[in-house]
Amino acid sequence: MVKVMVPATSANLGPGFDFLGLALDLYNTVSFKPADEWYVTAEGYGAEVLTGRSDLLVCKALQRVFAEIGKELKGGIVHLENHIPPAGGLGTSASAIVGGLAAANRFLGEPLSRDELLALAVEIEGHPDNVAPAVFGGLVGVVKSPSQPYTYLKIPFPSALYVVLAVPKLRVPTVEARNLLPKEVPLTEAVFNLSRTGLLVGACYAGRVDLFRLAMEDALHQNRRAVLIPGFHQVVAAAYQEGALGVALSGSGPTIIAFAPENRQQAVGTGMVSAFNEQGIEAQWLSVAVN
Ligand code: HSE
Repeated sequence: MVKVMVPATSANLGPGFDFLGLALDLYNTVSFKPADEWYVTAEGYGAEVLTGRSDLLVCKALQRVFAEIGKELKGGIVHLENHIPPAGGLGTSASAIVGGLAAANRFLGEPLSRDELLALAVEIEGHPDNVAPAVFGGLVGVVKSPSQPYTYLKIPFPSALYVVLAVPKLRVPTVEARNLLPKEVPLTEAVFNLSRTGLLVGACYAGRVDLFRLAMEDALHQNRRAVLIPGFHQVVAAAYQEGALGVALSGSGPTIIAFAPENRQQAVGTGMVSAFNEQGIEAQWLSVAVN
C-alpha cells in the first residue's frame, strides 16, 4: 500500500482566474494498492458518501496513470482521509485527482514526471489553477503553452501574510459557478484583471504586501458568482475592516480567503464569520499556513 498527501488549494486569488493557485497546509490523503475490484473506504469529510463507490475521481485518476504507461487497472483498495472541506473552493476535486495520480505513480515506481502528472491532472480537471499547486506546492502561475501542454512558475509568497479562510455552510459546485460566467468579456474587464494579476505577481516578488488589496481586485468572476454566496460583499468588507491586506473568493467559492498579518488572524476570521452569520449563513473560520 502506498500513501500520499495532497494539499488544499485556493485558486484565482482574485484577478488570476484560471492562472494562479496557492497550496495550503491542509491535506487529504490517498492510500492505494491494486486489486481486481474497487474497495473504497473513507474517513473525515464525505466518508459516508464515498465509501463503497467505484466512480470517484480518485479511481479515474489511478486508472489514468496505469493507462498512460500501457497497463490496465481493474480496481484497487483505496482509503481516503479527508480533512479539506468539500465543495468549498478549496480544491477538493484537484486533491482527489492529484492524489490518485500521485498514488498510482508512486506505486508504479514513479514512471511519470511531475510535469506529466500536471498534464494528466488538467486533462481530468479541465482548468489548471488548482491542480498545479496541488502537484508543485506553494504559489503557482500556470499557462497553457504551444510548446508543452502547461508551463508553470512557482512564485514566492510573502512570509508576512497569514491565510484566514471563512468556510460557510453552503455548497457551490464549480460547474455551476463557471456556468455563470460569460464566454466573452469587454476589453475594460480584461485590462482590469490582467493589470492587477501582473501587479499581484510583482507584489509577491517584491514583498509589497501593501499592494495586495488593489492587486486582488477582480472584474471577471467574483461579482457574477456573488449571487450564489449570500453575504459575499459584506464578508469581504468585514475582513478588510478587521485588518486583512487582501481578500478574494477562494476558487469558485463559497469559501473566502483573506491574507492578514499574524496579529490580525483571529479578528479577521471572527469578523468574516459574523458577517456570514448576519446574512443567516453558518460559517467557520480557520487559519492555515501556506504549503
Ligand atoms: N479557476 C477556477 C474557477 C477554479 O474559478 O472556476 C475553481 O476552483
